[in-house]
Amino acid sequence: MIIAVDGPTASGKGTISKQLAAHFGLPHLDTGLLYRAVGRQVQLNGTDPDSEADAVAATSFPDSLLEDPELRSEAGGSLASRVSVHPGVRKALFERQRAFAQQDGGAVLDGRDIGTVICPDADVKLFVTASLDARTDRRFAEMQGQGRDVTREEVLEQVRRRDERDMERKDAPLVAAPDAFILDTTTLDKAAAIAAAINVVTTATR
Ligand code: DC
Repeated sequence: MIIAVDGPTASGKGTISKQLAAHFGLPHLDTGLLYRAVGRQVQLNGTDPDSEADAVAATSFPDSLLEDPELRSEAGGSLASRVSVHPGVRKALFERQRAFAQQDGGAVLDGRDIGTVICPDADVKLFVTASLDARTDRRFAEMQGQGRDVTREEVLEQVRRRDERDMERKDAPLVAAPDAFILDTTTLDKAAAIAAAINVVTTATR
């Protein structure tokens, strides 16, 4: 069984995907991490994330880079979003994601274009979303918890900018597949969102 999970930043798709994978006993790939690794490799190379050639050169990052804690930072997410607009980068990461999805028994993948481009044939597609305000509150609380010196307005602007770049790029923009189940987590806590996602998958694959 292949489960595709897409959605904007701070929608809860990462948590939901991890829990779906645990519940259904499937391996999980956080595809955003691949784009984050490309962004980080560009930075380590001292090259330009907005240059397609520089970003494509960084797609041959070593696997060990996926463990770099810098990848999880807000700056890492923003760099990932910048390199992800280049078609050459998306093409270079395509096979790796496809191969993961097509392993025996299936998998859960989360990202922005899983249901539309990477696994258009997925058994279940979830599009996890939440209002801009709710996502800002979550990201702000997370950053405050990490002791980061940031205002809610700054976080709102970061989330808004990331949405804009991810949704407006020409190649594989963030959009719900026509056959995706939309899970709006605005008013749901973590446990309720996970339960709703498990219910969608169970019902869809019965
Ligand atoms: O899911 P994330 O926040 O870790 O993703 C970081 C960035 O990577 C996101 O802003 C856009 C890009 N991305 C993408 O273009 N396609 C994916 N399947 C996953 C992530």
